[in-house]
Amino acid sequence: MRVIVVEDNTTNLSVLCGIVSRLPDVECQGFSDPRVAIEDVLCRPSDLMIVDYMMPDIDGLRFVAAVRAMAMHAHVPIIMVTADGDRATRLAAISAGVTDFLAKPVDPIELKARVSNLLELRGAQNALARRADTLALEVAQATRHLQVREEEIINRLARAIEFRDNETSEHVARVATVARIIAEELGQPADYARTLFLAAPLHDVGKIGVSDAILNKPGRLDAAELAAMRRHVDVGEQILADGDSDLVQMAAEIAASHHERWDGAGYPRGLAGSAIQLSARITAVADVFDALCSARVYKPAWPVEAARAEIQRCSGTQFDPDCVAAFERGWPRIAGLFIEDAITSAA
Ligand SMILES: [Fe+2]
Repeated sequence: MRVIVVEDNTTNLSVLCGIVSRLPDVECQGFSDPRVAIEDVLCRPSDLMIVDYMMPDIDGLRFVAAVRAMAMHAHVPIIMVTADGDRATRLAAISAGVTDFLAKPVDPIELKARVSNLLELRGAQNALARRADTLALEVAQATRHLQVREEEIINRLARAIEFRDNETSEHVARVATVARIIAEELGQPADYARTLFLAAPLHDVGKIGVSDAILNKPGRLDAAELAAMRRHVDVGEQILADGDSDLVQMAAEIAASHHERWDGAGYPRGLAGSAIQLSARITAVADVFDALCSARVYKPAWPVEAARAEIQRCSGTQFDPDCVAAFERGWPRIAGLFIEDAITSAA
């Protein structure tokens, strides 16, 4: 334990330090100049301070106020040495943050007893702080562990969808990345963009409930088939409903609303504008853009610039104009993804 003594009278200082330093496991350092003591405690932690009240320039009260302003010393015990019976000074000292008092002339036995008691208190404080740090670390590790497990389950579910619908194997990964770019360009917090990146791959999870004949049908779907295909939104919402985590809740809102349109002409609920969750408005742009750029059994892939122009054309009707503007701001990064994929495919 480190104890500092601040006393301008060098004889008293040496007596006090001599008594304190004889206590077990105590290192005592004396300062005759309170300014030097303040500079020291700015960069070195202490476990107890003993400070004289009567000092020139900086008295004990000002010293204590300066020390208490440092977060590192907010709870360090401080003993002030005062003239006995000086009630007003003692009240001011308590207000400034002094823990205990010693009357002049200092009784060595009382000094040792009070220092020992306060160091014991300080030891308990330190142990409690270490325990709190350890617990905070353990909670952070356990939380991260749970997040990793949740992300793993989500990723495996997304892979299951890829096996169900072969056309979407690359699609879900690109939709996730484009959605994250749009969220970042909208100025959404990093946590939101990350959650969206993880949730967006599940937007078509409800296709598990659509038959192969409809999913893989080349050519146009008739009215009954279209209605069955559109049910993937309801199925997806039911699969993901009532989740506890932010990730599953966002995945549910995306699955439920990624075919809604800004102008209210979408499905299943015909929601319009900001009544559609932002996550779903963002994913709608990313989903349609990637679908246009991808070859399907019923259509060839569009060139990326043509798909980009289609997104712009549908701003304010199918898509949230703010999301389309963010898509445009993120275009250099988005275009990079598709160029990389084209190079990989050609290789
Ligand atoms: Fe969909």
